[in-house]
Amino acid sequence: MSNDWRSATGISPHQTAQSDEGTEIATSLSNDTVIVVSNRQPYRHRYQEDEDGESTITVDRPTGGLTAGLDPVMQRLSGTWIAWGDGGADRDTADEDGQIPVPPEDPQYTLQRLWLTDREVEEYYYGYSNRALWPLCHLAMGNAEFDSAQWRQYCAVNRKFADRVLEHATGGSVIWFQDYHLARAPQLVRERCSSDQFLFHFWHIPWPAVDAFRACPQHQELLEGLLGNDLIGFHVPQYCRNFLECVEMLVEQAEVEHESGRIRHGGRETVVGSFPMGVDAETLKRQSARVEESMWRTFKREFGLDPDLGVVLGVDRLDYTKGIPERLQALEHLWSEQPEWRGEFTYVQKGSESRSQIPAYQQLQDRVSTITERINDRFGGNGWQPIIMIEEQLPKDTLCGLYRYSDVALVSPLRDGMNLVAQEYVAAQVDDDGVLILSELAGSHEQLGDAVISVNPYDTEAHADAIDRALTMPEAERRHRSRRLRRKVHNNDLDAWLHGVFDAVNQLRGDAGS
Ligand code: F6P
Repeated sequence: MSNDWRSATGISPHQTAQSDEGTEIATSLSNDTVIVVSNRQPYRHRYQEDEDGESTITVDRPTGGLTAGLDPVMQRLSGTWIAWGDGGADRDTADEDGQIPVPPEDPQYTLQRLWLTDREVEEYYYGYSNRALWPLCHLAMGNAEFDSAQWRQYCAVNRKFADRVLEHATGGSVIWFQDYHLARAPQLVRERCSSDQFLFHFWHIPWPAVDAFRACPQHQELLEGLLGNDLIGFHVPQYCRNFLECVEMLVEQAEVEHESGRIRHGGRETVVGSFPMGVDAETLKRQSARVEESMWRTFKREFGLDPDLGVVLGVDRLDYTKGIPERLQALEHLWSEQPEWRGEFTYVQKGSESRSQIPAYQQLQDRVSTITERINDRFGGNGWQPIIMIEEQLPKDTLCGLYRYSDVALVSPLRDGMNLVAQEYVAAQVDDDGVLILSELAGSHEQLGDAVISVNPYDTEAHADAIDRALTMPEAERRHRSRRLRRKVHNNDLDAWLHGVFDAVNQLRGDAGS
């Protein structure tokens, strides 16, 4: 069974020329407005106090694959990006309608900020989005709460987003919703938009199987909300299959064609397809090639790492889906059962704080700290600290240096829609000598699985063996695997994703017009 949209539309992958891709996509949509709609904004303004107590405004880019991936896309397409203005200085930097041209240093498109009250943030973002939908889709049911007040607020905020979209939409607009925060918005826009507007949703996280999804009391409204779209994209075919099955079993009078991914409901058609997202591999390669070894020596000195020891790396948001405690336990197992590895390498965990108002995230942070302290106390000594935690934001160049010069990367989520860190690590391997250990439960495993060391993050012993295997892998095998991985990541990069997405959009719009 195939749910790749191409089988539905009959177009072969990336059939447009691969040169000058940005301009080409921009041309194919040049008479139309592209409106991206997401919860998280690509640029946030904040007040920061300097040492003299003077307040200045700084701009930062929130962590996360969605904004990092879509900002370069929007820079090429122009258009408008509608998102929650969550920065303390956001209102003071935008105009009276909440609009600001971005990127700030070289404006290419409009960011339309939308203002949310504290209560809306609490109930829609920290509430239903991240206490109900996030755990539900990642099969972390122990963390899931389905609160009716939060659900009502989620619907109200989705309506706010929909209203903003309708203010910006013109005839022929392509409206591109992002992710699980906005499942109700497409239906709300559809009810009031014109028939020549195209609604597309990319769901960046997994879609669970029907027996898990039906546990959500609002399953019907969520599915109907999403069926307001003309096209719904997921990272991998399995999530498409799960979605189609959910619609078939849970939405009355919906007709589902599994092979083509077409759903007929309420007199309209929605197509479901898989579009595996990639990274900007070429830029990462260039950035990484620029980082000299002296940076790596400085980095090691600053963070107290022994200059002669190897480094195993983890880069994650501090989220319970990322499998950080499980990974630390595997390292503990390795150092306990194979003492010859003590003092031989350091594990560096770059962990960015995330969603800390939610108790499950606080518990995760506490758990990670407790395990780290235990391991460092148990095995550390003679100037060797087994685990170094880095919570501060690192500049992209430093991150590229970390990717390039560390010996092994451990990417072991318990469940992950795609995981772009795995791809970033591969793209940065300009010396072809790093080894990637990748969870079988990450979406990116579908693409990279046959050239990585695969792990089931729940299997501590096998996980420890995988680390041992990665650290002892002969050079020829490392190079061979790395070259294969880099080819895959370059062939399926951000441009390829964008082409896949816009080829599908154009094809389906053509079908509708003919
Ligand atoms: O799709 C998951 C996602 O929305 C990504 O953008 C990113 O990895 C992360 O979650 C960001 O989380 P938040 O916006 O809640 O900080």
